[in-house]
Amino acid sequence: MAKQTIRDLADVKGVRVFCRVDFNVPVDGGVISDDTRIRAAVPTLQHLLERGARLILASHLGRPKKGPAPEFSLKPCALRLQALLGREVVMAPDCVGDEVKKRSAALPEGGVLLLENVRFHPEEEKNVPEFAARLIADTGATVFVNDAFGTAHRAHASTEGVSKHVAKSVAGLLMEKEVRYLGMALEAPERPFVAVLGGAKVSDKIQVIESLLPRVDALLVGGGMAYTFFKAQGLATAKSLVEEDKVELAKQLLARAEGKLILPTDHVVAAAFKADAETKTLPVSEIPDGWMGLDIGPQTAAAFAARAAGAKIVLWNGPMGVFEMAPFAQGTLAMAKALADSSGTSIVGGGDSVAAVTQMGLAAKIDHVSTGGGASLEFLGGDVLPGVACLAEA
Ligand code: 3PG
Repeated sequence: MAKQTIRDLADVKGVRVFCRVDFNVPVDGGVISDDTRIRAAVPTLQHLLERGARLILASHLGRPKKGPAPEFSLKPCALRLQALLGREVVMAPDCVGDEVKKRSAALPEGGVLLLENVRFHPEEEKNVPEFAARLIADTGATVFVNDAFGTAHRAHASTEGVSKHVAKSVAGLLMEKEVRYLGMALEAPERPFVAVLGGAKVSDKIQVIESLLPRVDALLVGGGMAYTFFKAQGLATAKSLVEEDKVELAKQLLARAEGKLILPTDHVVAAAFKADAETKTLPVSEIPDGWMGLDIGPQTAAAFAARAAGAKIVLWNGPMGVFEMAPFAQGTLAMAKALADSSGTSIVGGGDSVAAVTQMGLAAKIDHVSTGGGASLEFLGGDVLPGVACLAEA
């Protein structure tokens, strides 16, 4: 990666480090149901703590719109982190102000202070320079470490603004790993390079398709978005999800793809959008009137899995069907297994595909499971992420 990382910091002993993490985890009634993002930050934190840094951690949680609210508090994350690090994590009642000043000043070497949700202040998302300056002044930090890849597509005060108020800004180890793996897809990848894209809508993935098409050997498309391509090919789609205003674009993409854009050959269709609906598995050229396609079929799943197996790099983003309903989850589960079994480098990015590999207990068999949803899509779409751009060049 062309950015400096915490390995490039000369000596952090006693130094106050402002570290932006992405602890935006699912919390319900104070209970964290998935702590992946907290665990993913631990290597960076440990690296800095072992070297005697004084850590001040900042994150958002959810999208609070009306100031402080207990359901968006980072307190459950402080407890979880404390257990993971095996050392005390002091929680601040806010992210700026006198209490922050006091607790940061009292931090010993190797101490950890977690600031309260930065989005309790509207200035965070507006990236107000004075607020970014206060985050740094009140904590007394001199170094900014950005390890929040999941939020790196946001130009907010704690992800970008703070970089203007410190002596040095560098990437954390998670940020470095995310950029290295996802960057493989954008730089000259080893071949064959196969990308698998799913999800409901073509419109959500246009930028990624445009960015990946010239780079891949094959772009396998499943999920609801396949139906806009079927419509573009003149196939009947009945009540399947079709974005009418994207049919023309789908035609152009198919023409430009020179055979690299591969669509399903069979699908699971249902009489209604519900788990107990009547279903049939049919070739994609067939769909009864009034029915809808809700998953790729077994023939497609096998063909996609074979492509993944033969790839040197395989990148997957987006479910192959309505993964939340068991009868339509098979295609997505088959892709999760295919990536886990692939002997090439396997990379998974995006909420539902990550959920599928995690649910099947396969995450450890994937080379890189991204912690970024929107961030990984913007990165793969070729955007420069503000939370990365602001870091020191290597
Ligand atoms: C995410 O969960 O994708 C990141 O934490 C960013 O959250 P946001 O979409 O609310 O900015």
